[in-house]
Amino acid sequence: MTASTAAQAAYIVAALLFIVSLAGLSKHETSRTGVVYGITGMTIALVATVVLASRSIAAGGLALLLVAMAIGATIGLWRARRVEMTGMPELIAMLHSFVGLAAVLVGWDGYYDVEAKGAAQTAVASDLLRIHHAEVFIGVFIGAVTFTGSIVAYGKLSARIKSAPLMLPGKNVLNVGALLAFVGLTAAFVAHPSLGLLIAVTALALALGWHLVASIGGGDMPVVVSMLNSYSGWAAAASGFLLDNNLLIVTGALVGSSGAYLSYIMCQAMNRSFLSVIAGGFGAVAPAGSETDYGEHHEITAPEAAKLLSTASSVIITPGYGMAVAQAQFPVAELTARLRERGVQVRFGIHPVAGRLPGHMNVLLAEARVPYDIVLEMDEINDDFASTTVVLVIGANDTVNPAALEDPGSPIAGMPVLRVWEAEHVIVFKRSMAAGYAGVQNPLFYRDNTQMLFGDAKERVQDILHAL
Ligand code: TAP
Repeated sequence: MTASTAAQAAYIVAALLFIVSLAGLSKHETSRTGVVYGITGMTIALVATVVLASRSIAAGGLALLLVAMAIGATIGLWRARRVEMTGMPELIAMLHSFVGLAAVLVGWDGYYDVEAKGAAQTAVASDLLRIHHAEVFIGVFIGAVTFTGSIVAYGKLSARIKSAPLMLPGKNVLNVGALLAFVGLTAAFVAHPSLGLLIAVTALALALGWHLVASIGGGDMPVVVSMLNSYSGWAAAASGFLLDNNLLIVTGALVGSSGAYLSYIMCQAMNRSFLSVIAGGFGAVAPAGSETDYGEHHEITAPEAAKLLSTASSVIITPGYGMAVAQAQFPVAELTARLRERGVQVRFGIHPVAGRLPGHMNVLLAEARVPYDIVLEMDEINDDFASTTVVLVIGANDTVNPAALEDPGSPIAGMPVLRVWEAEHVIVFKRSMAAGYAGVQNPLFYRDNTQMLFGDAKERVQDILHAL
């Protein structure tokens, strides 16, 4: 068996492991095994690639490759160990920018390897040359859009750039115009490849990626991140065609399609169309003076909340982004256990976009060892609020906002929400009366059956535990 055949066999095994890994990651119970499959697949792929490369490059080149891998692995391990769960989306956005940049570099390399040398000098068969021209051009385009788009997403998520959407006049015309220009440039490049056209498409795509993401508001950023995830997959697949690497094509397609599907699920959960997300504008800060006066809110103390809980027969906890920020999942799990010991029925209601990542709350609760069978999806629990004694809203805001259902003029109108206000008592844990991520006021806080428990969610839950 030649090294190349062995590498192809290893690539097939790695591709299968990636597919099994994705299947494993779709459920809590199997997610750890899924990660192990993914790591194994990636290790096999890396070893096969390095062994294959070692046959065709000089010893100096191989040493450089190994040094680059060691540096990359060290930075990767260091970042992964240090990242907080709440910082995951921005880390992912940053990683996507690397995939985009790599695809641009591979495309340019492909150009210098084939197009720049002229048809007579290259190893590519003449009838496949036009396909090669298209691969270079499309790969560079997708890669460059992903590169700048991901950098802007990283900036917004980490608050280095203002999260409000950039509203250039005629912004949709600009985006569509850039796409049409890309189609025209591709046709020209396939007919007569030239360095000028490649520079033009790179510049166009860098500007488009930047504008596309800059026009989208902070509230939609998680959808954007998963959309960029999808782009980065297609960029990798395009590089796979250029490098004649089947594994890169398969992996790129897996990432591309799963990212697209994830974006679709998130859009559905927020009842927004994918196009309206791309068109941007959501998450704009409300103009001053546009706030509605909902009247007075009521406050409760931790000991009073403990008293209410100890007399309740059923409790539903609806966590949100604030629980992640406060790292309150551990005392929340302890509170759950205590109440269950006393015979109170305790369940969790999870909104599909609670937090900043799909499954964010499920991961936190699993980390604190909350039993899976009491953690229910929004659709499974929404009808039960009306027969519930107390709902604890821990650091959630947009996902429990009645305006989504009751105010057609609200920016989040139509988004499905947890109908917590139907319960007998609602206790909201947050630090202030500030709006949630979408920047929308929440009338829930002013309802007669709602009481605010101000302060850091972790500290307040601990106070309740002491009082119990
Ligand atoms: P948010 O609406 O973001 O509200 C979080 C609340 O937590 C804030 O009101 C904040 O109020 C409170 N908070 C922050 N730190 C806290 C702390 N240490 N202790 C107590 N409270 C704290 O949360 P949500 O209900 O989870 O909604 C998620 C948002 O993200 C939605 O707008 C959703 O559309 C968007 N989004 C999510 C996803 C995914 S996949 N998850 C995807 C797209 C969009 P204070 O500042 O007053 O404390």
